[in-house]
Amino acid sequence: MRLLLIGPPGSGKGTQAVRIAEHFGVRHISSGDLLRRHVAEGTSIGRMVGDYMKRGDLVPDGIVMDVLRKPVEAASRAGGYVLDGFPRTVEQAEAAYLVAHRLGASVQVALYLEVGRDELVRRMLARGRETGRADDTEEVINHRLEVFDQMTRPMLDYYAQREKLVTVNGARPVAEVTWSVIVQLQRVRRTI
Ligand code: AP5
Repeated sequence: MRLLLIGPPGSGKGTQAVRIAEHFGVRHISSGDLLRRHVAEGTSIGRMVGDYMKRGDLVPDGIVMDVLRKPVEAASRAGGYVLDGFPRTVEQAEAAYLVAHRLGASVQVALYLEVGRDELVRRMLARGRETGRADDTEEVINHRLEVFDQMTRPMLDYYAQREKLVTVNGARPVAEVTWSVIVQLQRVRRTI
């Protein structure tokens, strides 16, 4: 199973990706987690991306592709992946397709987690209070949501036309969303 999780900030991509990966026995790869690790470790990549992430802007495509290439290739060889947070633009999706196609590791399903804006803001402000995540402030949350609408939302049409796009209502309790995702993926899996 090679799956992409698409959704606005706070929609539950990370939360669901862990559970889906465990259920299907594949690896979870999060572009945000990998980039945050570089920042925390103070690597040269971390120093390049820190300001973008603090502002809630997208990190340049070349850097993201560099960070993800090896984990995605390794996961493909090991049986598949749930990719959370990448791609985020049509350009990233096209570039990823070219690389993955050559390796026979193209995406099979794209899953969109749909959650309304008020609930997204509520979740991220709550997390900001609990964990102090640097981009969970009101101002940066608003900017991240704008970036999603402008840069990432158009990608839904891209996947609807190419791979299978499955939309799931993510504004329900965590376990209910997971159950719904698994049922839909099992149905789609029979056709891929
Ligand atoms: P990234 O880490 O991908 O952040 P994001 O998209 O803003 O997503 P979040 O982590 O905020 O939310 P999520 O959808 O994973 O939800 P979660 O499960 O955490 O990216 C961060 C930054 O890195 C970007 O701004 C950018 O700078 C850079 N970046 C990353 N990828 C990039 C790319 N491809 N290109 C360029 N730049 C890139 O849940 C959120 C909260 O809600 C949690 O507290 C959780 O416990 C709670 N929650 C989850 N599900 C539910 C539920 N069903 N009910 C109630 N609460 C829930």
